[in-house]
Amino acid sequence: ETTLGAAAAQSGRYFGTAISAGKLGESAYTTIANREFNMVTPENEMKIDATEPNRGQFSFTNADRIYNWAVQNGKRVRGHTLAWHSQQPGWMQSLSGSTLRQAMIDHINGVMAHYKGNIYAWDVVNEAYADSGGGRRDSNLQRTGNDWIEVAFRTARTADPAAKLCYNDYNIDNWTWDKTQGVYNMVRDFKSRGVPIDCVGLQAHFNSGSPYNSNFRTTISSFAALGVDVQITELDIQGASATTYANVVNDCLAVARCNGITTWGVRDSDSWRSGDTPLLFDGNGNKKPAYTSVLAAL
Ligand code: XIL
Repeated sequence: ETTLGAAAAQSGRYFGTAISAGKLGESAYTTIANREFNMVTPENEMKIDATEPNRGQFSFTNADRIYNWAVQNGKRVRGHTLAWHSQQPGWMQSLSGSTLRQAMIDHINGVMAHYKGNIYAWDVVNEAYADSGGGRRDSNLQRTGNDWIEVAFRTARTADPAAKLCYNDYNIDNWTWDKTQGVYNMVRDFKSRGVPIDCVGLQAHFNSGSPYNSNFRTTISSFAALGVDVQITELDIQGASATTYANVVNDCLAVARCNGITTWGVRDSDSWRSGDTPLLFDGNGNKKPAYTSVLAAL
């Protein structure tokens, strides 16, 4: 195969990218994105501040731009994200307690209704665990009660029973880290109590502070053994080592339930960490050595 999406499809997987609505008019960008990828995650356009800028008033203009571009080009869409401490609109940042809890529920219902039946998987909850210690991150949502995550998942299941429901986080790639174990224990608990969860998203933002580790495969297989799919949702690697990119692909391919990989942007110049040159295409749209090694590994 000669593209990432087609190569991933050989084993029933997808290969995706984050897309920005503001770049859909740029042909150098859309040519690569359309050719190489078969799954799309809106980089910012489905976040809470974008979709509900005022309470009860939903806005899907930019999200729909990406959704429509994806579907018109035969791609599926991962929704990102419904409940998160970051990129909340001002009105939500100032809420707390039962009012915030209800606002979260209303937000999930409002966004999922708009896309009902049309989203492959939703990152229902994003980044709810603390960077160290293995416990929850402090946030306005966490302060509404420890059950906020399962409330989000139960709400989401009812709102769109066709979408896979994912928990997504960073620094849960290394199996030996407390944060990984904290999320693992939450997913195990959810599965044992029947809280609806279908997948875990490993963001996989690898850099010098949180480098790729060969126990990544153990992390993937351990989550999968709980009965959830695992997706690599925001992959980027500082410096874009071809060897490390191939290791990531091989680790996913080694686990049947690791069913897709998404890189967090198309070209280095599109990256949220462009200084790290962490992606598969350079700023001119040329394939980097990491691209060649990923394609060969798929
Ligand atoms: C980032 C986007 O790439 C940036 O454009 C934005 O300014 C901040 O958010 N974890 C996530 C993503 O789940 O939503 C983040 O995306 C990167 C880290």
